[in-house]
Amino acid sequence: MRLRVICPFFLLIICVAPASALDNGLAKTPPMGWNSWNKFACNVSDRLIRETADAMVSSGMKDAGYQYVVIDDCWQVKRNPDGTIVADPERFPNGIKALADYVHSKGLQFGIYSDAGRQTCEGRPGAHGHEFQDAFTYASWGVDYLKLDWCHAEGQNSLESYSLMRDALKAAGRPIVFSLCEWGSTKPWQWAKDVGNLWRATGDIQNCWDCQEQKSDGLGVVHILDLMDGLEYAAGPGHWNDPDMLEVGNGKLTPDEARAHFGMWCMLAAPLISGNDLRQMDADTVAILTNKEVIAIDQDPLGKQASRVRKEGDKEVWARELAGGNRAAALLNRAATPQEITVKWEDIGYPAHLSAALHDVWRHKDLGTLTGSFTAIVAPHAAVIVTVKP
Ligand code: GLA
Repeated sequence: MRLRVICPFFLLIICVAPASALDNGLAKTPPMGWNSWNKFACNVSDRLIRETADAMVSSGMKDAGYQYVVIDDCWQVKRNPDGTIVADPERFPNGIKALADYVHSKGLQFGIYSDAGRQTCEGRPGAHGHEFQDAFTYASWGVDYLKLDWCHAEGQNSLESYSLMRDALKAAGRPIVFSLCEWGSTKPWQWAKDVGNLWRATGDIQNCWDCQEQKSDGLGVVHILDLMDGLEYAAGPGHWNDPDMLEVGNGKLTPDEARAHFGMWCMLAAPLISGNDLRQMDADTVAILTNKEVIAIDQDPLGKQASRVRKEGDKEVWARELAGGNRAAALLNRAATPQEITVKWEDIGYPAHLSAALHDVWRHKDLGTLTGSFTAIVAPHAAVIVTVKP
């Protein structure tokens, strides 16, 4: 904008060229990692992050593709007189750089959180007015991922604010995945492709299947699904719709609900950011979070987010195209009783006469070759997910 003002007329064409693209070459498939918020909120520390990095490796999550260990809100306490952001000295006595070095020593990547407004949602210093200074600080600490929230940003324009941080990160010279978090409030799917690698498309997830009432801005798993349908056109390699972090392993979803939550996030090509205590996981939680066939759908190189192709009350079919002309289909039962659900080939873009090999990705089981449709009895609050290969 500043350039435009001082531009002589003959340079106008160069000066009003569109805002530069993100173009950081990152997140070609949806980012996978862990974030402290869902389980720990403000209770973050150097020790928690180190132990989480250790657990990401020892649990098999790293092998399954998880990379980013991200500290959410509350790591920062103030700014120095020169404006430099300061980490909580009690909770992070070694400083953030030493912590990032430790995470890197495990073969993992390190992420951090800030806010585009004047303060974070928990009242810590925000990035507003310090975008370039913070980007250079983060780069010097070895940060690989930045989540930028949208609290206390009254009067700011989201496209301008997030573009400013994108440009700051670019200037700082370190490849940093840029995660936008304005909760879908200004329709980022319409403008954020050139700004961030992922953008929250909804309000905060709640740890429940279909509750809505506990917190006015929180959403159960199925309400988030409803908001994601229709946004699939905006997702692709390097730029993803983000339906928020996972609640798998946080103790409230039943095993079927947790599988459905995780499986549907994979159908949506969602960032897979676990939000539980990785140091204490039961076998079900590990099995869900590390199911390689389900994760392979999420990480499919085509990067096509699923859409809802059929809805009959609580019975839904979601489908997405996979590389090689194959499909993944999810038969989702939102009801509290078992339901018979059918996916027809015409729902997923195949002619009815086509024969295709079906494979159940949760059970790792071939279901044989079928023509025209596939029907399953789906348990309450569960999703059967199959790949369909002609
Ligand atoms: C907002 C975000 C959450 C989390 C909190 C932290 O609510 O949407 O994901 O980062 O702030 O305060």
